[in-house]
Amino acid sequence: MRAGRLAAAAVLVSLVLAPVARAVDVERGARLYARYCAGCHGRDGQGGAHTFMPHVENLTRRGYVELLPDEYLMLVIREGGPAVGKSAYMPAWGGTIAEEDIANIVAHIRRLGLR
Ligand code: HEC
Repeated sequence: MRAGRLAAAAVLVSLVLAPVARAVDVERGARLYARYCAGCHGRDGQGGAHTFMPHVENLTRRGYVELLPDEYLMLVIREGGPAVGKSAYMPAWGGTIAEEDIANIVAHIRRLGLR
């Protein structure tokens, strides 16, 4: 009886969590990043002189990027640099990239790894 109830609870939990787990598509995030972001931030997220824009922040810097909350990354991507007091050379992507794709891009940034 008790085990049956536990199993039912487990099924319920997986039904609730499954759509959330599927919602993030990091491969799609990677494709969008390559298309819209890599020109300035670098394919590897390291920015620097080998990109079109030399003064971008390093998106892989240890002790920095992992401390930035997802909400902050979403905000700066959606509304552009000035929304967080950064350069207006960082465009606002909210009109171009759907909210769920911004989340996919953030998932990709999280995967770039820290250096
Ligand atoms: C035209 C060049 C350009 C493009 C394209 C661009 N960025 Fe930026 N980005 C910048 C600049 C300049 C800044 C502000 C300086 C900095 O912090 O790097 C910035 C800042 C950021 C920051 C904040 C970094 C921090 O330390 O607060 C994030 C996150 C970011 N960009 C992500 C993206 C993503 C994701 C895309 C693609 C959807 C993108 N950027 C496209 C130039 C660009």
